[in-house]
Amino acid sequence: MNKNIREILIAEEPLKKRIREMGAEITRDYNGKELLIIGILKGAVYFMTELTQAIDLPTKIDFIRVSSYGSGTNSSGDVKISFDTTKNISGKDVLLLDDVVDTGLTLNAVKGLFVERNVNSIKIATMLDKKERRLVKMLPDYSGFIIPDEFVVGFGLDYDEQYRTLPYIGILKPEVYGK
Ligand code: IMP
Ligand code: MG
Repeated sequence: MNKNIREILIAEEPLKKRIREMGAEITRDYNGKELLIIGILKGAVYFMTELTQAIDLPTKIDFIRVSSYGSGTNSSGDVKISFDTTKNISGKDVLLLDDVVDTGLTLNAVKGLFVERNVNSIKIATMLDKKERRLVKMLPDYSGFIIPDEFVVGFGLDYDEQYRTLPYIGILKPEVYGK
């Protein structure tokens, strides 16, 4: 285990198993439709590769990058697009993916933006949900695991751009971010 990880919250196998279940559920719900799956960079990338491979539908993928966190552990609420989707999304059935819903500000802002772009439908899938941290109303349509209010890393989640490549979700030692 990485020396800066206090404990493994979700190990690789249960994590991947749950993501595959989510894929099966999405496949059933969107039966007969074509999906446009948009991942929020960079955190959603690992979740996105697992999930999309478990979805048995005609699917296209795209990405958007927004920034709100900087290098700290608290959301500023200020969401800025630094990389936009590459294709026109109007009229599409969009599934928006993120690694974790925390305050809800990021997904709320991106969802609002996509609604303005006249998508046919928009749903949200998140790998993790820190329910108790919510500042705005944001109920994901698909959620992998509800987790406690701890700063977690791995499987795409970072602290100051590190730890994204860990194959599990781990709780970072608080001394690492000076808490
Ligand atoms: P929100 O806008 O507060 O919901 O924050 C969502 C974004 O904050 C996610 O896309 C993550 O990048 C980041 N984030 C929230 N909690 C954590 C965490 O525990 N570890 C790493 N990143 C986090
Ligand atoms: Mg992040």
